[in-house]
Formats: sequence, C-alpha cells, structure tokens
Amino acid sequence: MKISLSLENSNSKDVTIMVDALRASTTMITALENFQTIIPVKNIEDAEKLASKYCAVLAGERGGAAVKGFDTGNSPVEIQNFKGEILVLTTTNGTRILEGLKSKALVGSFVNAESVAKKALDIAENHIDVVMAGVNGRFAIEDFLGAGAIISNLQDHALDEMALASVMASQNKNWVNIAVKTSKSAQGLYELGLGDDVDFCLKYNIYDTVPMYKNGKIKRNL
Ligand code: MLT
Repeated sequence: MKISLSLENSNSKDVTIMVDALRASTTMITALENFQTIIPVKNIEDAEKLASKYCAVLAGERGGAAVKGFDTGNSPVEIQNFKGEILVLTTTNGTRILEGLKSKALVGSFVNAESVAKKALDIAENHIDVVMAGVNGRFAIEDFLGAGAIISNLQDHALDEMALASVMASQNKNWVNIAVKTSKSAQGLYELGLGDDVDFCLKYNIYDTVPMYKNGKIKRNL
C-alpha cells in the first residue's frame, strides 16, 4: 500500500484522510458522538439556509471566532453540549478541502489517529493520501504532526518522504505538544479564549469514530 502526505489537495483516487487538527477534523469527529450527519458548507449564507431547512444545529467559525447568530463555533469542546440529527458546519479550511476531494474521504486527527488509519487500510486498494488542510494554502505544523500520529500506524507500508518525515517528527509526544501549542493556529485560539480546544485537540485516540465524507455529507458509515 502506498502512503503519501500532501498539502491541500489529494493525489489519490483511492482513499484520502483529511487532517485539520485545529480544529475542523476534531470537531467533526467529536460531533458524530451526538449527531447522525454533518453537512459541511463553504459559506455562511448557505450554512444558514441549510440549517433552517433541516432545523439543524448551526456551527462555524471565521478567523477562529464563532459566527454571529450561530448556535456555536467550530469548537470540539462546545459541540459536546449539542445533540441532534443534523449539524451544519462551516469552517475556513477543513470544509473547503473536503469539497475538493475526488477519492473516498475520511476525517482524521490526533483524537482518532489509530482508528482512522485502520479504516483507511480496510477500504483502500493501493493508495492512502493524508492531506493536511493547512491554513489558507500554507503549511500548518499541527496538521503535519496530526498526520504523523495517523501515519505512525501505517509504518509497515510504502511511505513517501513527506509521510516518513511526519512520522519521525511525531515520535516525541512532548515536543508535539509544545509545537502544536506554540503554533500560529493555537496562538490565535488562545487569543480568542479558546485554549481548552487546543488541549482537547491534542488528546490521542479518545475516539474510534471515523467520519466518512460522501456526496456532501459526513457520517460514521456510508
Ligand atoms: C478551519 O477549518 O479553518 C479551522 O478548523 C479553523 C478553526 O476553527 O480553528
């Protein structure tokens, strides 16, 4: 099995794991504990329309802060206070990346690293690409290290150089913690008073949930 690591766009037609560790991936994984379906939406207006059409909970951020008038932000900690059939979620990077994927698509992060790696192996035929969402096209260290936590479970396979680098970088969990907590993304969240989300996103393997994205919807199984 070929295992590669990319930024923003997947180069696999087989299986892709999207990683937006702070925070979209982690929010999606957490939300599936209390929701059956997540509809990720690129823009705020469409999110509002869909939420009112389906009487859904509406969550999302811009610049990290909760969107005005929404039920909650893109927060894995806060989303645990909500429950329902459908969650409509809009985020700056994570939802946009998912929309662009052409392969089977899974959502991964530190919180489900082992389970998402296992699921990808179950459904892939020859190529798993782990895609770092990044921040507006730029590399983000938290996604690189989150990808490393996932790919560490796939080391028996044919890793490309980026994938191997992420595994090596993620071996020391103490350094991973420091790097993620001092990342630009985390700093922005601390400034908004959302430090609890950073701590939560850094928990390893607390969920075996593996969100799967298909036809514009995210569910546990499709
Ligand atoms: C995103 O999708 O851009 C992020 O998850 C931003 C965030 O809410 O921290």
